[in-house]
Amino acid sequence: MKRVDDFRLRLGSHEVVPIMVGGMGVDISTAELSLEAARLGGIGHISDAMIPTVSDRRYNTKYVKNKLQQYKFNVANSDKSVVQFDLGLLAEATALHVGKTMEAKRGPGLVFINCMEKLTMNAPKDTLRVRLKAALDHGIEGITLAAGLHLGSFALIQDHPRFNDVKLGIIVSSLRALQLFLKKNARTGRLPDYVVVEGPLAGGHLGFGMDWAKYDLAAIVIEIRDWLKAEQLDIPLIPAGGIFTGTDAVNFLELGAAGVQVATRFTVTQECGLPENVQQEYFKAGENDIEVNQTSPTGYPMRMLKNSPSIGDGIRPNCEAYGYLLDASGNCQYIEAYNREVAAHPDARRVKVYDKTCLCTHMRNFECWTCGHYTYRLKDTTRRNEDGSYRILTAEHVFHDYQYSTDGSIALPKE
Ligand SMILES: Cc1cc2nc3c(=O)[nH]c(=O)nc-3n(C[C@H](O)[C@H](O)[C@H](O)COP(=O)(O)O)c2cc1C
Repeated sequence: MKRVDDFRLRLGSHEVVPIMVGGMGVDISTAELSLEAARLGGIGHISDAMIPTVSDRRYNTKYVKNKLQQYKFNVANSDKSVVQFDLGLLAEATALHVGKTMEAKRGPGLVFINCMEKLTMNAPKDTLRVRLKAALDHGIEGITLAAGLHLGSFALIQDHPRFNDVKLGIIVSSLRALQLFLKKNARTGRLPDYVVVEGPLAGGHLGFGMDWAKYDLAAIVIEIRDWLKAEQLDIPLIPAGGIFTGTDAVNFLELGAAGVQVATRFTVTQECGLPENVQQEYFKAGENDIEVNQTSPTGYPMRMLKNSPSIGDGIRPNCEAYGYLLDASGNCQYIEAYNREVAAHPDARRVKVYDKTCLCTHMRNFECWTCGHYTYRLKDTTRRNEDGSYRILTAEHVFHDYQYSTDGSIALPKE
C-alpha cells in the first residue's frame, strides 16, 4: 500500500514532499507554520491578507494606528473613497513580513505566499501590483493566486526580474475557470507552474455558489487532468479541499495529481495563528455546527462555524483602520448592510447585522471561524487532556501523519 512519501512533487528544479499547507488568511497560516512545512520538505504558505495589521502585531509597527489617524475625519462617513492605502507603506509592510519569513527559512522545502485578489483595497490593481512585487523583491519562492479571477495578475509582474524564476500558481474550482485564465494570460507567454484545484469542502471562501454540495473534487480533477492531457499541457495539479488523511492524498496522487493542498488539519497545531480557545471550538464542532453562508462581503460563499462571533455582529465599519475589501470606488457590501440596519433601528445602541459581516475586523481578531468541511473530524486526530480539553498538535505531527500514514489511519499524538 502506497503512502504520500512514495511520491514527490516536481516544480522546475525543485523536488519536494507533495504536501502543500494552504494559505489561511489573516495570519492563521503563520510564518511559523509555513516554515515548519518547508523544514519538513513540503511547501508552506504565508498569506498576504492584511499584512500591515499582521506586521503591527508581529513587528510592532504602527500602520493601522497611523492610517486610522490619517482618515479619522471620515469614520462617520459612509463614502469611503478617500480611504486609500499608501503604496510605499504597503510595500514596506509586505517587505517586512516576507523578508523576515524568508530569512528564517531552513530545510529543503519551499515557502510561498497566498495572494487574495479579493483584497481590492480601494485600488485593486495598484495595491495588488505592490503586494506581488514586494513579495518577489524579498525572496518569496512562489505565489499562489487565490480563487477569484486573477486574469490580469501575471501581467502585473511581467517586468519583474524574478518573473520567470518564481513559481506561480493559481487556484481554480472548475475547468472553465482554468481555461479562461489560460486564454487571458496567453499574452504573457508564461503558463502557471502549478494549478491548485480547490473543491467544495475547503475552508475559507469557496469558488462555488450555494449549490457547492453538488460538486465533487475528484470529478473536477479528472476533468481538468484529461483536458490538460488532450491539450498537451504539462502543468502539475494540486487538489485541495477535504483531503483529511494520507490515504485520501494517495488516492489523488494515484489519479495523477502532483501533490495535495491541505489546511484544516493544521488549524489545530501550535504553529497555527488561531488562539487556543478558538482551536478548542474547532475541535468541539460537530457536523451540524458548520455552515456555508454568504456573510462575506466579497460575494463568495464562505464556510465557518455557526457560532463564529462575526455572525450577526453589527460593529461600525472599520475601513479607516483596515479597508481591505473596499472596491475600486470605495464600497463594501458590509457598509450597505450596516447602514440599512442603523436606519431601521435609529435608537439601538448596537445593531445586529446578519447578512454581511465586517470581515476585516473579524478576521483580524480571529472572530470569523472559517474552517473546512471536515473540521468535525478534528476531534479524532488528538487526545483529550485531563481537564477535557483537546490536545493541540504540532505541525510536524500532522505533516508526518499525511506523509507516512496508510489504510485511512490517523496517528494520535504520543501519550
Ligand atoms: C481557516 C482557513 C482559512 C483559509 N483561508 C484561505 C485564504 O485566505 N486564502 C485561500 O486561498 N484559501 C484559504 N483557505 C483554503 C485553504 O488554503 C485550502 O485550500 C483548503 O482549506 C484545503 O482544504 P482542507 O482545509 O479540507 O484541507 C483557508 C482554509 C482554512 C481552513
